[in-house]
Amino acid sequence: MIKKAVFPAAGLGTRFLPATKASPKEMLPLVDKPLIQYAVEEAGNCGMEELLIITGKQKRAIEDHFDSAYELEDALTKKGKKDLLEMVRRLNHINFAYIRQRAPLGLGHAILCAKPFVKVEPFAVLLSDDVIDPEDSLLADMVGIATERDAPVVALEMVAEDDVEKYGIIEGKDEGGGIYRIKRLVEKPKPSEAPSRLGIIGRYILTPDIFDILETLPAGKGGEVQLTDALNRLAGRRPVYGYLFRGKRYDAGDKLGFLQATVELALKDKALGAAFREFLAGLMKDEFSSPHPRR
Ligand code: UTP
Repeated sequence: MIKKAVFPAAGLGTRFLPATKASPKEMLPLVDKPLIQYAVEEAGNCGMEELLIITGKQKRAIEDHFDSAYELEDALTKKGKKDLLEMVRRLNHINFAYIRQRAPLGLGHAILCAKPFVKVEPFAVLLSDDVIDPEDSLLADMVGIATERDAPVVALEMVAEDDVEKYGIIEGKDEGGGIYRIKRLVEKPKPSEAPSRLGIIGRYILTPDIFDILETLPAGKGGEVQLTDALNRLAGRRPVYGYLFRGKRYDAGDKLGFLQATVELALKDKALGAAFREFLAGLMKDEFSSPHPRR
């Protein structure tokens, strides 16, 4: 069983400026829930109960969001708004720890900040701007593989050739069942230099030996301490696996990905879905039947 999960949330969110100038990207809502809550619920569904959020400057709203909200709860109780009360209290039983990354020195550095919390156990890492459809079982599948093989596992997606420059890309041996034994990893390669189209997405099961590597790892691409580089070294020391995810993932840290996630999750929403579908259908009809399309 993996009990601990780490949520790095100290990045600058430059792809989403100006919204992220003074507000955390992780608090952007998809329909009615902040991105980070989707990831927290995903970890909770896998039985992970000790959660650490790596925060940074301008990220206080995350702590407030997961704190109890006494005045709000009191007001809702007095008004008899039971459903809303239940909604805001739903995660109150979870204990969150916070460690502040003093400067956004890279994802690898953010994970190194988790060392005093993780200590000696395997742990999960969830990047909340990668939103996994709540109906998918990616994290649970990864926990199963990591436990069975007693090894780190990273989530992979088959990315378009033009997009390899946006991902850490692996070279690996296909072991069947979507599992790859990783030979090496390259951070954001040029398409001509990419060893495959298997890109790493934001779910990892890591082992504590990653910290020894991160402690001495020099900054890599973009001047940041790259988790991909650390995993590359780890793969030279012990088996590291990739697991190909075939479900739905949204890159909600990117404006277009965020819009796509919003539309798809809104369509699936029990309360809003039908009305939103009707609205979209009307919009599309106008768009395609108009002699002067707005595009
Ligand atoms: P991203 O590169 O996707 O996020 O990092 P970012 O840096 O916030 O956003 P852009 O690229 O500038 O738009 C992946 C994850 O790692 C965290 C981010 O918060 C995000 O969850 N991260 C990144 C840190 O916690 N610390 C860092 O120094 C860098």
